Amino acid sequence: MGKSGSPVQPIQIDSRPFGKSQSVSAAPVYPERMRDTHVIRWYVLVLPSCHKGPAKGLQEELERRRRNGEPSFEYFAPSYVEVKKRDGRFVETRRPLLYNYVFIHASEHEIYRMKQWLPLYNFLPRIKDGAVVFDGLMLDSSRYDCIKIIACGSSYHVGMVGKYNLEKLTRMPVEVILASEFRYCSPIVNERTLAIIISRSGETLDTMAALREAKARGARVLSIVNVVGSSIARESDDVLYTWAGPEIAVATTKAYSTQLAVIDMLAIYMADALGKLGAQEYARLVQELLRLPEKIETVLQSREKIQFFASKYFNHDSVFFIGRNLDYALGLEGSLKLKEISYIHSEAYASGELKHGTISLIEDGTLVIALGLYGPLFEKAMSNVIEVKARGASVLALT
Ligand code: F6R
Repeated sequence: MGKSGSPVQPIQIDSRPFGKSQSVSAAPVYPERMRDTHVIRWYVLVLPSCHKGPAKGLQEELERRRRNGEPSFEYFAPSYVEVKKRDGRFVETRRPLLYNYVFIHASEHEIYRMKQWLPLYNFLPRIKDGAVVFDGLMLDSSRYDCIKIIACGSSYHVGMVGKYNLEKLTRMPVEVILASEFRYCSPIVNERTLAIIISRSGETLDTMAALREAKARGARVLSIVNVVGSSIARESDDVLYTWAGPEIAVATTKAYSTQLAVIDMLAIYMADALGKLGAQEYARLVQELLRLPEKIETVLQSREKIQFFASKYFNHDSVFFIGRNLDYALGLEGSLKLKEISYIHSEAYASGELKHGTISLIEDGTLVIALGLYGPLFEKAMSNVIEVKARGASVLALT
């Protein structure tokens, strides 16, 4: 019996991923919110990343894909559900999550969702009449001399982007510190310090400990958190939620991007409060933010091209990401994502640092992913591309 009390229905695998329909006997997992419902039929899309166990009928497909070197499926996610309330009063047919897309990876699916959720949950309530508004935020930006951003992993990489943008817009000194280092580096923190804590889960122990340390030293703590009511959210003076929803993919997708959007909105908000932002620049920055979903769509439209490049380069066993300023911060995250998902070794370097030793590792055929997305440093980025190409690197440039 399923959790709803109804007999377990066989899962119908949507024909799209395989080109033909298949049934598997694995029991579907009933989400909490569907306790009082009777599921008539589940269609599932198979996504990689956390397949929970063998499912009959899939094994042959997985084996075939393994033999052909095609991407393997690892995870089931319901993509289409027909639901009837238990008392039989009505039947609800949910729309497929997929619309025009077939996702072969949970990350890809989440990027797609992000395009919808970013405007819905972050921009709509927070950008009103062209102004950034944080309801309930009690922050007096003028009370602080400096900002310390504290986080781990991907959240730390968001902090790097935050540093560049906050410093540039507010002209306040900003330091980004790994939460695991914070307690051990005699941080200079007092009541004129604003500590920005970034965490998707809101439960990371090192980040939690750093928050307590910063508070004990007198800082005001503003956290950027995804999970509502998490420990970090509860112990902070102010919380800005990222409203990214739950994430299934190993590498953070929606949370990372919404953290970026929130910290950028915060930079605009603080710079404005400090009188550092002209009206024209303010409007331009807000417009750029609002265009993000459109830009995500453009990237999603290029999925075939991206797949082509992935298939061209997937057998490299070591990859370098290079970039300057914001591109360096993005490269750090790109490198982490590549490692997490593909198990390929990679390093991210601030382009200018390469020549101080590491360039010796770049030889014929080494794959270098060069980021030239940050307009003001595009020429510089290109000069580094020439440098690594001269050593024989294969360069995949993102501009
Ligand atoms: C990488 C990833 C981790 C987390 C890190 C901090 O995809 O998810 O690097 O960013 O463990 O976790 P949070 O943000 O929950 O504090």
